[in-house]
Amino acid sequence: MKVSLAGLTKSGSKADLFVAGYFKDEKGLKTLKKIDPAFAKAAETAISKKRFEGKTGENFSSYQAGYRQAPEVLLLGLGEKKKLNAASLRKAVGTLIGLANGRKAVKVRVLFDSFLNEEVPAGEAAKIFTEISFLASYRFTPYKTQKKDDPPKAPASVELVTEKKEWVSAFRPAMVRAEKIAKAVLLARDLNNEPGNVMNPPRLASEAKKLAAEKKLDCKVFGLAELKKMGMNGILAVNQGSVTPPALIIMEHGKEYKDRGTVCLVGKGVTFDTGGISIKPSKGMEEMKYDKSAAIAVVVTMGLVSDLKLPLHIVGLAPCVENNVAQDPQRPGDIIRMYNGKTVEVMNTDAEGRLILADALSYCEEFKPTAIIDAATLTGMCHHTFGDKTCGILGTDQNLIDAIRKAGEEVGERCWQLPLWEEYGECIKSHHSDLRNTGDGYAGTITAAMFLKEFVPEKTPWVHLDIAGTVCCTANRFDCPKGANGFGVRLFTEVLSNWSSGNVSKA
Ligand code: BES
Ligand code: MN
Ligand code: ZN
Repeated sequence: MKVSLAGLTKSGSKADLFVAGYFKDEKGLKTLKKIDPAFAKAAETAISKKRFEGKTGENFSSYQAGYRQAPEVLLLGLGEKKKLNAASLRKAVGTLIGLANGRKAVKVRVLFDSFLNEEVPAGEAAKIFTEISFLASYRFTPYKTQKKDDPPKAPASVELVTEKKEWVSAFRPAMVRAEKIAKAVLLARDLNNEPGNVMNPPRLASEAKKLAAEKKLDCKVFGLAELKKMGMNGILAVNQGSVTPPALIIMEHGKEYKDRGTVCLVGKGVTFDTGGISIKPSKGMEEMKYDKSAAIAVVVTMGLVSDLKLPLHIVGLAPCVENNVAQDPQRPGDIIRMYNGKTVEVMNTDAEGRLILADALSYCEEFKPTAIIDAATLTGMCHHTFGDKTCGILGTDQNLIDAIRKAGEEVGERCWQLPLWEEYGECIKSHHSDLRNTGDGYAGTITAAMFLKEFVPEKTPWVHLDIAGTVCCTANRFDCPKGANGFGVRLFTEVLSNWSSGNVSKA
């Protein structure tokens, strides 16, 4: 697919579908009258008969071979003009792509100017159009063998047209950037939609290496033997129930920018979570293939930050395991000595994410990071608390939490803070060892984060994102079909793009 911005011309080749936005309180169809008087007349009639009012999501289209821009012209309702914001514009673009798909339109032309108001700057709107056109057109089809099952093809081109010719070159860099980001999100979706029998730890590691080679990043992978030598017993204990070896993926970008700071990104990579001996109920267990979402978000973000040439030293770490019951699975009550030396009693083998993250977090010390940000599909409790619309954010540095929350608002991946007060740490102390991997059943998202905190290198600002609820769409969404949605890539990238020393409080 190609998304472009060009000056509006009255001649030139025709598209299959021409789309203009229409606000509920719009006064007349001034521009459209110039562009295509015949269509404008049809639309005016429909508007006067209240067949179309411009309510959000409503649309009116008319088909006539003689129309100038395309045989079919469509007005998309945008609601009240002053109410349109970035979020509702994203939705409108998603709806637009859906309508184009349904019409099998290959070449779509959009009157860009008709989607603008004072709230969303035009440059921002160009970004949103680019990003959402790609995201909303996504389908995961490698396992569809029957052609007849093929979902409608996405448009091959979305051509935005404007009367403001100066915007064409002014917005190009932002659109190029938005396209790179969107394509990275799509890659994350592809990798994440792959099932557990395909995308296991070694395969994920090889995908990371492939991406690193393509984007010119450093990438190394620690396999079974190395992890044993290093004493990464959290990672090893979780994976011992699997016949497939574990992997710790480490990707590094921008060593030359160390003076500006080093940020470690850590992502949980459980390629499938059966729960282990503390096995999960079978209903809905297939969704546990998405338990690798955070690792994938980290890997893909690393490729992207290299592509975007961000002037910052960034290290991505993704501990990857399969939590299975096949070989010699760990038992409840097992005590393991973690990479940082602390001992943990495994109360519940389904609380595995924190065990693998713990080792990776401790290992970050090697890079002397300015800050560590981890993400994980860590607790069902977080899904219950925030649903699928918001991720949990907890950490030891309020400035960094605030910076990430702001970035989340910016890109539409929102975070909401939970506290990390000392009292919550009581219930993860163990009778026979230093720690236990579950709390008392309450405040599960917080106690999980309290556990991680025990493994973060001392005095290093650290923020944890619990993305259990946000990583997959359980039904089709305006910008993503049912399945993995690539959550985290845009959030990480926005945070890193805006990085400044003020992001972390001075110790
Ligand atoms: N991967 C799950 C968390 C999860 C649950 C993610 C639902 C997405 C949707 C995690 O490994 C897990 O099983 N957590 C347990 C922890 C408990 C045993 C303390 C949970 O949340 O039930
Ligand atoms: Mn689990
Ligand atoms: Zn898990």
